[in-house]
Amino acid sequence: MRRLWRPVLDPLVPYDAGKPLEVLAEELGLAELVRLSANESPLGPSPRVVAAVAREAARVHLYPDGGSTALREALARRLGVMPGELVVGNGADELIGLLARAAFEPGDEVVVPHPSFEPYTSSATIAGARVVPSPLAGYETDLEDMRRKVGERTKAVIICSPHNPAATIVRLTPLVAFLDALGADPPLVVLDEAYRDFVDEPDYPDGVALLRRYPRLLVLQTFSKIAGLAGLRVGYAVASGETIGWLNRVREPYNVNRLGQVAALAALEDRDHWEKTRRVVLEERAFLSAGLRARGYAFPPSQANFLLVKVPDAPALREKLLRAGIVVRDGAGVGFPGHLRISVGLRATNEKLLGLL
Ligand SMILES: Cc1ncc(COP(=O)(O)O)c(C=O)c1O
Repeated sequence: MRRLWRPVLDPLVPYDAGKPLEVLAEELGLAELVRLSANESPLGPSPRVVAAVAREAARVHLYPDGGSTALREALARRLGVMPGELVVGNGADELIGLLARAAFEPGDEVVVPHPSFEPYTSSATIAGARVVPSPLAGYETDLEDMRRKVGERTKAVIICSPHNPAATIVRLTPLVAFLDALGADPPLVVLDEAYRDFVDEPDYPDGVALLRRYPRLLVLQTFSKIAGLAGLRVGYAVASGETIGWLNRVREPYNVNRLGQVAALAALEDRDHWEKTRRVVLEERAFLSAGLRARGYAFPPSQANFLLVKVPDAPALREKLLRAGIVVRDGAGVGFPGHLRISVGLRATNEKLLGLL
């Protein structure tokens, strides 16, 4: 028999994002279903984004700018880097895949916190690399353990901060100590900052600022969360010009669509909406946290737009919330059985949720 498919794919299962919201609502006979399972923005996009997308719609017969030039220039100004130190992707997801394509080979090792955002593991596995899991210490990333796991074969270390799903951060002093301990010829260090805009701890590191000192860092950020563009898929990596050059070699020519590019530009220009989203999420996170605590629930203090809450019977509670019109994530699907991962919603949803709990 001809072996058609790569053996490294054997352990992988297709990602199951669940049923579309509309289908689920109809099946349950609910007029309204609120999704608090995907860490989306409770406010949605800026009205300026909606207008920019509408304006651009008539030009979708034209291929987009393959280099996302205007967007990279705007981001470069915002972040204080050169446009050549940026690559835009079809979501940060794509950039994780590009890194794996460009850097990982069979025999390489990739140190990944466990559990954590699943695409780190699947991308490395698809590339044929070996994933070396570093268990969380409770809900915290264990940098000591990660450092011990770095060896000759380590091609990359992935740090997720705020961590999905634990919602905890890695702080500046331990991060710098970790980076220093890797020495003069370190592996690539990915710092996934998808949820960075929701952090309010003062000692949260600025990954982009660390790039000058640690040129093998690669910082991931996204418009999916704070800017509410999850449906348009726009993320970006900030790294040395050299790293970006390698990622560009494996990038599809037109990887970021026209609507996504104009939407991201408009989102960058609407600072008020950006700040409002941050304010609402931080206020509502505090409201939900207080309500959960008052009801006796335990959870790590969140620095993201979601909470990972320990519950007695997660599948049953998830089902109960679902029937009442609120979708949350069973922690079992993200490596935390006995927990629910609940995105921060608007006040009315959060009140309803607390009432049901
Ligand atoms: C930690 C983390 N990184 C990256 C992403 C991917 O973001 P994007 O929507 O830009 O692909 C997510 C999305 O949920 C995430 O949780």
